[in-house]
Amino acid sequence: MSVPDTEPAGALATDDQIPWWQRGAVYQIYPRSFADADGDGVGDLRGVTNRLDYLRDLGVEALWLSPFFPSPMADNGYDVADYCDVDPRFGTLADFDELVSEAHARGLHVVIDWVPNHTSDQHPWFRDPGKKSWYVWRDEPANAWRSEFKRVGSAWTRDEQTGQWYLHSFLPQQPDLNWDEPRVEAAMHEVLRFWLQRGVDGFRIDVAFKLGKDPALGENEPGRRHDQDWPTIHPRFRAIRRVLDEFDERMAVGELYLPSQRDLAAYVTSGDELHMAHNFFLLLAPWVEATYRHTIAEWLELLEPDAWPAWCLGNHDHSRLASRLGPERARTAAMLLITLRGTPFIYQGDELGLEDVPMPPEFAKDIDGRDPERAPIPWRPPSQAGPGAGFTCGSPWLPITADAEEVNAARQSEDPRSMLALYRQLLTLRRAEPALRSGSMRLLDAGPDVLAYTRGDEFLVLLSFVTEPRVAAIPAPGMIEISTNPDREKSEQRSPVQLGPDEGVLLRMTSNATSSFGGSPPSISAST
Ligand code: NOJ
Repeated sequence: MSVPDTEPAGALATDDQIPWWQRGAVYQIYPRSFADADGDGVGDLRGVTNRLDYLRDLGVEALWLSPFFPSPMADNGYDVADYCDVDPRFGTLADFDELVSEAHARGLHVVIDWVPNHTSDQHPWFRDPGKKSWYVWRDEPANAWRSEFKRVGSAWTRDEQTGQWYLHSFLPQQPDLNWDEPRVEAAMHEVLRFWLQRGVDGFRIDVAFKLGKDPALGENEPGRRHDQDWPTIHPRFRAIRRVLDEFDERMAVGELYLPSQRDLAAYVTSGDELHMAHNFFLLLAPWVEATYRHTIAEWLELLEPDAWPAWCLGNHDHSRLASRLGPERARTAAMLLITLRGTPFIYQGDELGLEDVPMPPEFAKDIDGRDPERAPIPWRPPSQAGPGAGFTCGSPWLPITADAEEVNAARQSEDPRSMLALYRQLLTLRRAEPALRSGSMRLLDAGPDVLAYTRGDEFLVLLSFVTEPRVAAIPAPGMIEISTNPDREKSEQRSPVQLGPDEGVLLRMTSNATSSFGGSPPSISAST
């Protein structure tokens, strides 16, 4: 199938025009599992502050903190009991302020999670008789809607106290807020302002696609869901955007699982809703070059020139990148993520090639089986730091990888062949090169199983999707700047380029690249 040329028709912003959230990578911190400063076995905000130099050296632009708010932790903090405070397990508001100011002092932006679809059942709003309309209550289940967690089943639970049923898209301990109630919208805007005034630079909006549901609670139909992505949703995002725009250079990125990229684009193309929408289509796709090419081409085509892509290949809800793809392909995936046009989102530990940690049943905490990808970060070899591997001096809340002696940040920092070294090289180059941030992106036909694209006139990326050697046709000679194979010599390459198994290379063009890429040389076309 042919895909459109990805060279955008309109003018792209120049590098000095792009805002901070387009400049570099966002690093996701799952606070429970990142770094524990107080020794209780659970990561905390001071642990994050202590590790900010690591993030600065990694070369990311921002950190995104998963929820740290007071919570009964039925869903590890995605069940918020107070939106405007810090859970004592994670620290205090003063710790948060210190984190923000220390991050800013290092040039790092701070993004936090905002969970507007539901509260905890322990939130005072849920039991307040004056706020009945803030949730979705019925005398009996109004429809057959299902919880997103398969093991939960129905999205309706009967409340013992009132005998009535309430809606929950996730756990029964996470009742859905009723966004058709204007007071809910106003209260949640105040939550945004609370954190904006404290200096946060942006929000990751949890379950953004569920802020609009059919007010008549109609049944889902084939091809038309009534429990998400309802047209009422778009004015809600415009209103959220107006709140952010009361402050300078703030950003909102939405978590949206929708059937198609076209559906997703509707949230970012008008320029007055979300700044970015997480694109999960790559994460969910098989590692097949044609699928990746088509997905990337379609997304850029839908967005350019006015909207900006966000890419992610991992987060705390999915099996880890290195487990899904294997360690070699995870290196190629890192090159892809960081060199695509758009903002890369990196999940903590993926930069170490951390794999899912098998969880013995007695450790299993999450109803949806997501503990393996949430195992704590190994910072130092256990032989030096003890069994907590530098994550904690106590007993970790989830087991740490059995490979921590080899897979840890300290050891990889010293090893130029490590995954961490590769991430640092890629992120450092991206920081140094405007073409890798704001430069145009053009997909090329380089040959079977090789995803090839240019960034600006300077760079060419070749990514092999297979474990057998491949050759790639390139339009002009280039020097290897980075290879996923640390043994690869940094030599000049002419067409055809030999690629090793699962290898990715980033070439800096050595001839007049403008003439090479500006036109459409007969051997090169943007098609699958
Ligand atoms: C998406 C979050 O990423 C996930 O961890 C959580 O369980 C659900 N939203 C519910 O908040």
